[in-house]
Amino acid sequence: MIRKLPPELIREIAAGEVISGPADVVRELLENALDAGATRLYIELWGGGLDKIVVRDNGLGIPREELGLALEHHTTSKLTDLQNIRTLGFRGEGLWAIRQAARVRLTSRPPQQLGGATLTAFQDKTELHEHPAPAGTQVEVTALFCHLPARRNALEAPAAEGRKVVHLVSRYLLHRPEIALRLVVDGEEKIAHAGGGFAEVIKLLWGSVVANRLLPLEAAEGPFTLRGLLSRPELSRPRRDRLLLALNRRPVEWPEPLLQAVLAAYKELLPAGQFPVGVLNLEIPTEHLLINTSPDKSRVRLIRPEAILGFVSQAVQGLLSAHPLARALPEPAPLTGPAPVQRVRFPRLRYLGSFRELYLLAEAGDELYVVDQHAAHERILYEELSRRYLEEPPLELPHPELLSLSLGEEMNLAERLEALEQAGLQIEPFGPGKYRVRTIPAFLAGYPSLVGEVVKGSLGASSFAVAWRTVLARLACLPAIKAGHPLSSASAQALLDALAGCELPWVCPHGRPTVLVLGEGELARRFGRRGVRAVVDPSPHRSE
Ligand SMILES: Nc1ncnc2c1ncn2[C@@H]1O[C@H](COP(=O)(O)OP(=O)(O)OP(=O)(O)O)[C@@H](O)[C@H]1O
Ligand SMILES: [Mg+2]
Repeated sequence: MIRKLPPELIREIAAGEVISGPADVVRELLENALDAGATRLYIELWGGGLDKIVVRDNGLGIPREELGLALEHHTTSKLTDLQNIRTLGFRGEGLWAIRQAARVRLTSRPPQQLGGATLTAFQDKTELHEHPAPAGTQVEVTALFCHLPARRNALEAPAAEGRKVVHLVSRYLLHRPEIALRLVVDGEEKIAHAGGGFAEVIKLLWGSVVANRLLPLEAAEGPFTLRGLLSRPELSRPRRDRLLLALNRRPVEWPEPLLQAVLAAYKELLPAGQFPVGVLNLEIPTEHLLINTSPDKSRVRLIRPEAILGFVSQAVQGLLSAHPLARALPEPAPLTGPAPVQRVRFPRLRYLGSFRELYLLAEAGDELYVVDQHAAHERILYEELSRRYLEEPPLELPHPELLSLSLGEEMNLAERLEALEQAGLQIEPFGPGKYRVRTIPAFLAGYPSLVGEVVKGSLGASSFAVAWRTVLARLACLPAIKAGHPLSSASAQALLDALAGCELPWVCPHGRPTVLVLGEGELARRFGRRGVRAVVDPSPHRSE
């Protein structure tokens, strides 16, 4: 039998969607404070937030006569147009939902109002007291879920709930480093930030080893701006948990195409399956953004994303090409301010000698370079192949090669016909599950035994671009100079020159570094010299 649910149950379900634990309470209060323009925030947590949560801000405050309204359902001062959401809150149910789940004391005074007031509320009951109060708002939430034992039992231990809050507050602070914020958990100060830039917050929360390996990014084009920090290639993680995005100041989960645009900009600077580290604040016109009304509003969709993806991809590529990316021996270079975007060229290296027939030693300016001969050669061959397949007309095979494809490969083939043809591969059906290869890229001419591997490789992975890159990288490492094979000085110098001519000389096609660099200053420091030798006549091969 279908029955209408009693009102108190409807209310509990609706409120439960917004507030399922202490971190949700903190998120709602934190977002309200930020929307109120707060520049100083104090957050306190007791018993993992189950006993007490306090959030105090120096924002706009709530007029005395509106305190009651603030705690009602569907009451907001923010939303005027769903197509144009500029605030974190807009539904008018954050405080209402907290009030269904716990006792709330809301104290506030707008700066221009004489005297403040406190509204105490729990479910339907409210009480108002007027009294002097500092400008701003303080919300105190106690006895969370005390009347809802099932919800309370579903929570983790207080320490775990407390950790979620620290994580959440950190996330907001990373995107709003200008805010001064203190977080105290069970009397212990967890975060104390006086306000500053991205680098200061990251140093505070992720440590200086991470902060020193990040590059500052600032880009703008038309209505789009992108600010933040992104890691140098040597700092990556197998998970995306430290690559954070805020869209129009809202911390969100990555819209997949946007994440792919950032990853693609790194090209092979990141080994497959690795993610950079960083914090990015992207601002776009609101008509490009659909904010899902999921309880925490963290899932968003981009509308007509092409121009945004192009902008982000350019900005990240510009950042990476504006910095020398050779990995330092032994320490990372210190963090510098935003650099003017100009392409940093790989220096012309002068060959000095080799070590164990694996590494080439070379100099440029006042730096010593150690080059992995094998990795460097792979990079050169890889870029050569990447050029050749586009430039040279494909080769028709005198006897078409017959292949059996798996179901997955057949499906990818159907989707990638055009891209495959551009790569020089014409493949036709030839009976169930069977295909014949009519043409191959010219660079495969001398290697008929590799045709099957190349075709199957190009039908794997998540996209043709990724699959094709893997195929070329694999080919580049087949005939590469075997590690340990001695090189004449002339051919070693030729290898270094060819590397300098590469588009991405810093890494091999698999993302391993090709060069390590040691500055003369670092050598002097390590040998305990007081200063580097005065260089009277700088080498003609100074790095550019
Ligand atoms: N810290 C604060 N400072 C100033 N005003 C506040 C503060 N917290 C709440 N308010 C006022 O109370 C109103 C209701 O807050 P509530 O969080 O319930 O809804 P909202 O923020 O408008 O939307 P959402 O439900 O999406 O969070 C806000 O619109 C705002 O006017
Ligand atoms: Mg709110």
